[in-house]
Amino acid sequence: MILVTGGTGLVGSHLLYQLAAQNESIVAIHRKSSNLAAVKNVFSYYSNNVEALFARIQWIEADITDIPSLTKAFHQITQVYHCAAMISFSASDYKNMRKVNIEGTANIVNLCIEQKIQKLCFVSSVAAVGKSLSGKEITENDEWNIAQNNYGYAITKYGAEMEVWRASQEGIDVVIVNPGVIFGPGYWHDGSGKMFRNIYNGFKFYTEGVTGFVGVTDVVTIMLQLMKSTLTNERYILVSENRSFKEVFFEIADALGTQRPSIKAGKFLSGLAWRVSWVLEKLSGKKSMITKQTAISSHNHYPYSNKKIKKALTFEFEPLSETIKTTCKYYKADVQSTS
Ligand SMILES: NC(=O)c1ccc[n+]([C@@H]2O[C@H](COP(=O)([O-])OP(=O)(O)OC[C@H]3O[C@@H](n4cnc5c(N)ncnc54)[C@H](OP(=O)(O)O)[C@@H]3O)[C@@H](O)[C@H]2O)c1
Repeated sequence: MILVTGGTGLVGSHLLYQLAAQNESIVAIHRKSSNLAAVKNVFSYYSNNVEALFARIQWIEADITDIPSLTKAFHQITQVYHCAAMISFSASDYKNMRKVNIEGTANIVNLCIEQKIQKLCFVSSVAAVGKSLSGKEITENDEWNIAQNNYGYAITKYGAEMEVWRASQEGIDVVIVNPGVIFGPGYWHDGSGKMFRNIYNGFKFYTEGVTGFVGVTDVVTIMLQLMKSTLTNERYILVSENRSFKEVFFEIADALGTQRPSIKAGKFLSGLAWRVSWVLEKLSGKKSMITKQTAISSHNHYPYSNKKIKKALTFEFEPLSETIKTTCKYYKADVQSTS
């Protein structure tokens, strides 16, 4: 029996669809506040048989920070996909992120060890990979360094990886994936989905920073293949292409049929923007999209190498332009169906 955490999020919902379509026995955890309708909406992108596929999942209410509820979800589990995490670039969320991302992963790891599960797949991030000082493509071997990665999300994803390596020390087979920015349909109010929504609504700014991007379908396909393979105790960067935010924003705007962002935000403008956003956030209590960390990251030039995973699985990534086109198609369909 397979356990999926984070099944009500972007990666987990697309993963659940693939597992359900492959007729696997699945347990997924959700919280009281989780939106299960969003998971069904993701299933509807792939199939007309949504209710039957969804019914294959046994949903258990559990929080990864709550050991008793999590213990119940581990009954008869042999494999675990741990996708749940708190993603935030706001300094005020650091404490909560430590609890969910590090302590929550430690709880998962302890139960995996206790239950002697066969294999654990953990979704980490390129944020937990070191940064190359030479300007060359970053690989899995570049050493993570707190001085270069001193923001909350990166620290907590790195800390979570340390917990997963502890599981491997205790004899559990583990694989870790480190995706770049993940694009895919279904979650337009958070994370990368919000990028599509903002550009559709006329977001004006772009930067020339570079990072790695990958489609959600490739991420879950690789996770499934790694879990079925004999590969263990390795981590893999998942990036289809390294692109500038300018190129990506322009391509999204074109695919959505909306105006391209027209104002280049240099470091000065970005610095001003996060400071103004910070004040507005304090006054209104509403979370801002622009934080000090997003402003800094949007100017970084961090290209990532995907050679290791391509070689390990002889895998070819979907071109990013295709991922963007498909995601935009579903964005427009979802907007039309709710208007
Ligand atoms: N999105 C990206 O661009 C990206 C890039 C690289 C790596 N990643 C990593 O990929 C993984 C999945 O990301 P995503 O984009 O799918 O995130 P997401 O859409 O924000 O979903 C997060 C999931 O985690 C669950 N969760 C959060 N706190 C929890 C808790 N205390 N107990 C149980 N479940 C909890 C959420 O449940 P609720 O529905 O109840 O909130 C949701 O199912 C994360 O580990 C993230 O760090 C994401």
